[in-house]
Amino acid sequence: MYPTQNRRVILKSRPLGIPEAEHFELVSAAVPALRAGELLVRNDFLSIDPAMRGWVNAAANYANPVAIGEVMRAFTAGVVIASRHPRYAEGDRVMGLLGWQEYAITDGSAVRRKVTEADLPLSLALGILGLNGVTAYLAFTEIGEPRPGDTVVVSTAAGAVGSAVGQIARIAGCRTVGITGGPQKVRCCLDEFGFDTAIDYKSADFEQVLAAACPQGVNIYFDNTAGAVSDAVLPHIARGARIIVCGTASVASWDPPPVGPRVERHLLVKAARMQGFLGLDYEHRLDEVVARLAAWVRAGQLRYREEILDGIEQAPASIAGLYRGENTGKRLIRMRHADSTC
Ligand SMILES: NC(=O)c1ccc[n+]([C@@H]2O[C@H](COP(=O)([O-])OP(=O)(O)OC[C@H]3O[C@@H](n4cnc5c(N)ncnc54)[C@H](OP(=O)(O)O)[C@@H]3O)[C@@H](O)[C@H]2O)c1
Repeated sequence: MYPTQNRRVILKSRPLGIPEAEHFELVSAAVPALRAGELLVRNDFLSIDPAMRGWVNAAANYANPVAIGEVMRAFTAGVVIASRHPRYAEGDRVMGLLGWQEYAITDGSAVRRKVTEADLPLSLALGILGLNGVTAYLAFTEIGEPRPGDTVVVSTAAGAVGSAVGQIARIAGCRTVGITGGPQKVRCCLDEFGFDTAIDYKSADFEQVLAAACPQGVNIYFDNTAGAVSDAVLPHIARGARIIVCGTASVASWDPPPVGPRVERHLLVKAARMQGFLGLDYEHRLDEVVARLAAWVRAGQLRYREEILDGIEQAPASIAGLYRGENTGKRLIRMRHADSTC
């Protein structure tokens, strides 16, 4: 059945820092007819990512900001329900940048890949088999250059990227130390994601526990937060350490900090390397990396957790919740589609 109405979340105003519910609006629009070369996707899951803060911010970033009035940019996973495109058929499962909306029409350019893992849940295409898992694998292996026995420290260890990094590091024969917020997340890192050690950065003895957990120094630091957590890790880097700058979740303002430098002496005296990573630069490796991650998931070597919110109404407030650490694992929206009529 071809839907008539499309509920979508648009950007209403531009936030200065973290986007809150008030910056978005849920609106309804008619679904146009398909033109030749287009396909219609029913979005079943919407992704919630810390990166969305950058996508709506006016500050310089790796992509143009979402315009006011535009549908919020987002990865989604869904099913093709109508197609006039030669490469897509009704029933194909797809993942792409199709936005916070129930239905999306595209000429195919917004689709990142067909989801061919028919034996695995579609939602995984947004998390462990999506940007999070692919980023974890590529940033860790390409920049981290892991060697068996390395001590690997990971921040946001209970989150979507961090939990995958910890497990991939274990598969590579490394010793893993996860940093996360709160005792429940510490338990989850140990029991579900198999970290050798997990540390609560909000506890008073964080720095002492971290030092004790890394007696030989930190060979790889997978940094998802910057800020105070990184300040605590950097004095412990080992000679020749590799520091992967993957995210800056703890940085409140992206204006340059008033004081510095804070990292250069650490890098210099340990002959260490610090490098940024952008997952979106690696689309050419998507299929290869997803196949590897899916094999580990099937073999039970790579576990994942999803934190699912129900209904598109949850989307506007969902980004700010990430920055309050509400999620463990991948935060997603599961869609409840309104009755569609011809
Ligand atoms: N470079 C890339 O291509 C790329 C791709 C994907 C993701 N990333 C980055 O990777 C990081 C993790 O992304 P994700 O999708 O896996 O999110 P996530 O870890 O599932 O969720 C974000 C987590 O960040 C932590 N956090 C929030 N504010 C914090 C603060 N002030 N200090 C310390 N931790 C804080 C919270 O965990 P706690 O409760 O443990 O604090 C929260 O659960 C983000 O920085 C994201 O931007 C980068």
